[in-house]
Amino acid sequence: MGFGDFQNEIYFQGLRGVVPEYPVAFAELEQRAQAAMPPSIWSYVAGGAGDERTQRANVAAFDHWGLIPRMFVGAKERDLSVDLFGMTLPTPLFMAPVGVIGLCAQDGHGDLATARAAARSGVPMVASTLTVDPLEDVAAEFGDTPGFFQLYTPTDRDLAASLVHRAEQAGYRGIVVTLDTWITGWRPRDLSTGNFPQLRGHCLANYFTDPVFLSGLQRSPEEDPMSAVLRWVQLFGNPLRWEDLAWLRSLTDLPLIVKGICHPDDVRRARDGGVDGIYCSNHGGRQANGGLPALDVLPEVVAAADGLPVLFDSGIRSGADVVKALALGATAVGVGRPYAYGLALGGVDGIVHVLRTLLAEADLIMAVDGYPALKDLTRECLRSVHR
Ligand SMILES: Cc1cc2nc3c(=O)[nH]c(=O)nc-3n(C[C@H](O)[C@H](O)[C@H](O)COP(=O)(O)O)c2cc1C
Repeated sequence: MGFGDFQNEIYFQGLRGVVPEYPVAFAELEQRAQAAMPPSIWSYVAGGAGDERTQRANVAAFDHWGLIPRMFVGAKERDLSVDLFGMTLPTPLFMAPVGVIGLCAQDGHGDLATARAAARSGVPMVASTLTVDPLEDVAAEFGDTPGFFQLYTPTDRDLAASLVHRAEQAGYRGIVVTLDTWITGWRPRDLSTGNFPQLRGHCLANYFTDPVFLSGLQRSPEEDPMSAVLRWVQLFGNPLRWEDLAWLRSLTDLPLIVKGICHPDDVRRARDGGVDGIYCSNHGGRQANGGLPALDVLPEVVAAADGLPVLFDSGIRSGADVVKALALGATAVGVGRPYAYGLALGGVDGIVHVLRTLLAEADLIMAVDGYPALKDLTRECLRSVHR
């Protein structure tokens, strides 16, 4: 069965008068998620930096490219599998790290739900440092699907090492170090309501279960939550410099991927520093407004990576977007806000639904346009759209 067969499932159910429980189009998904989420969570997830121009540009950038259909290809079978860090994954999709994903679930355990959705769909989860449930509990739900751990590097090197070693022990298959969020970007939606979930003690389970973190507290987080949160504030953001890369590299033998890279010089330097993968992203426009869409920098990043895998996110809303990002050179494509919305609407089922819709559309585009495998998706498949 191909991913596109999801549409037959839907149409056949339609014969019995059954329509999909969750939205098929992104606009409706977003609308219904807003209604399902508490306003403070909605604003944190849906919002971005400044007037959100970069966030919107991330999405609009996909409109500037058009795929050229090729005929007489007979792309009856499609192969969406991808080789990444020595693993063969069934699809080029992964779930990008979303720090408050825990809170997006109706039961408050969205990290576990996301991990279960990864197990069911084969689409890997990149688990954030900022989770409701500890990273070990999240990994225990991955099933046979590999998972990745995203590190917000703390200022305390021992704490960083402890988090990485816990991730290794728990069976994570790679460490994604996020570089663009050692400080929080200017986010008017959250600022206007004074809303920052972590300061309220949310999503800090990895810290509150960490022996190194706990050793720096006089009293446990249960006895004195405010002091624990303040300690977290002191430790959270490390403004890393190139000199720190050798140390990061030395922390693990797992694949090391650096997230937030958008400039070719940074790609080359990271490559020279021994990373295994480049993650091109502008954090979905949440960190710095006024930037280029992430898609626009992807080709340069891919060229500079010179064969190193390039993960990409920021603005993926449809299967067509997935195909275009792959054609511009991404090795794997990260879904961000859409799966958070699926989770808010339908828990594990909601996430799996969102992933299946993205994969079905991507698969059907590859069928219709005559690109049977990911290797067929190249820059040659695209032309810029003239308006
Ligand atoms: C609510 C929210 C929380 C996020 N938390 C993290 C995080 O903890 N770590 C991280 O590296 N990226 C985080 N991101 C960024 C995502 O990994 C990804 O780069 C972004 O969502 C892609 O943009 P898109 O959602 O518009 O497609 C977060 C994104 C959102 C929406």
